[in-house]
Amino acid sequence: MTAMDVQWTLVCSRCERTYPGLVERHRCECGRPLDVRLPPSAMTPDAVDRRLTSRQPLDRSGVWRFREWVLPLDEASVVTRLEGHTNLYDVPKLAAHVGLDRLRLKHEGENPTASFKDRGMTVAVSVARRLGKTRVACASTGNTSASMASYAATAGMQAYVFIPEGKVAYGKLSQAMAFGAKTLQIEGDFDRAMSLVQSVSASEGIYLVNSVNPFRIEGQKAIGFEILQDLQWQVPDWIVLPGGNLGNNWAIAKGLMELRAAGHIDRLPRIAVIQAEGASPLYAAYQRGGDLQPMAAETVATAIRIGNPVSFHRALAGLAATDGVVEKVTDQEIVDAKAVVDGAGLGAEPASCATVAGLKKLVTAGTVPPDASVVGVLTGHVLKDPGLVVDYHLGRLEGFNHTLANPPVKVEATEAAVLAAIR
Ligand code: F0G
Repeated sequence: MTAMDVQWTLVCSRCERTYPGLVERHRCECGRPLDVRLPPSAMTPDAVDRRLTSRQPLDRSGVWRFREWVLPLDEASVVTRLEGHTNLYDVPKLAAHVGLDRLRLKHEGENPTASFKDRGMTVAVSVARRLGKTRVACASTGNTSASMASYAATAGMQAYVFIPEGKVAYGKLSQAMAFGAKTLQIEGDFDRAMSLVQSVSASEGIYLVNSVNPFRIEGQKAIGFEILQDLQWQVPDWIVLPGGNLGNNWAIAKGLMELRAAGHIDRLPRIAVIQAEGASPLYAAYQRGGDLQPMAAETVATAIRIGNPVSFHRALAGLAATDGVVEKVTDQEIVDAKAVVDGAGLGAEPASCATVAGLKKLVTAGTVPPDASVVGVLTGHVLKDPGLVVDYHLGRLEGFNHTLANPPVKVEATEAAVLAAIR
């Protein structure tokens, strides 16, 4: 495959200027992020379904299974860890908790590095390989860096992660170090790390794989594709997910808009983006009807502790196209929802549980009717942030109610004491 054979183009999300598909740039000259425009494809939902029984690695990946709708890249370039094919759980207890007749949760924490980031990362790192890059970088609140570190190691590339010092949960920090990434703890917040990684990667020729990278968005579209496949191509009324840097809600919207344009579905789900109150610039702009006003972000859900989201404008476009809504939830609501999601046996990291907290609010407000068909996305695994779990159950989260705490009890090493404790 030569650069001439590349069939997609990159197009500006604001001014529609186009660029060749394999240029190493993520933003238009006007400054806005670029998106991939795919060539038309003959792929159909039926044909994608037939791949479910295949043993080929590309078919077994829950991203590359949809490759004609994601990115028609040459197979030799693909770096995959067979990501995706996560479970869609029917969760009656949680449905009752939020006030719905039925609720299904797509658990993206079941990806290889335990978050949805693997779906975008397989595509971005594959393109990096296609471009002959040997070094990749990202700024991250933790999950993107964990994922990048794993895919870079798989591909034999050097990874550089820029993380806000002291604000990355241990599960994620461990992964970046374990997978061999050069880990830079920036003495600043995520937004500062994001601005640094953009300038440093440009000047050093390191390939940037944050979600400003259009190929990350392409891979994350597969969350929406797989939800539809799980539902036998019936479109749900709502998809609900947390928002931080705001790439993911745009990715899901973009993918489903493309499926509708191709005639594979006849309507779009409404998308609800849930933000933490202390990191809610999209919510504020959505309420005001105005532009982005960056904020100093603070929340226990460190994954979405972002005050100046890179995909803000694309998120608005996705909301407009899907008649979407934005809700915000307090940190107390997030930890309460987390105790319920964890206690139901599923478990997810704090940011993911904003989905359930926000959904509860939207149902209570009457925005989402009780009989709506709703899919919530749990974006990361319960083990990503063990610190918060332990602090919650030991009643050590300062300023929080620990209503559902389940602390361990210390027991003398005798049968009598153990029996007394369990009775
Ligand atoms: N949930 C989790 C678990 C995340 O890690 C993130 C983002 C989000 C939700 C929000 O997704 O940014 O597309 O709106 N984490 C990024 C990171 C910022 O660096 O890992 P988004």
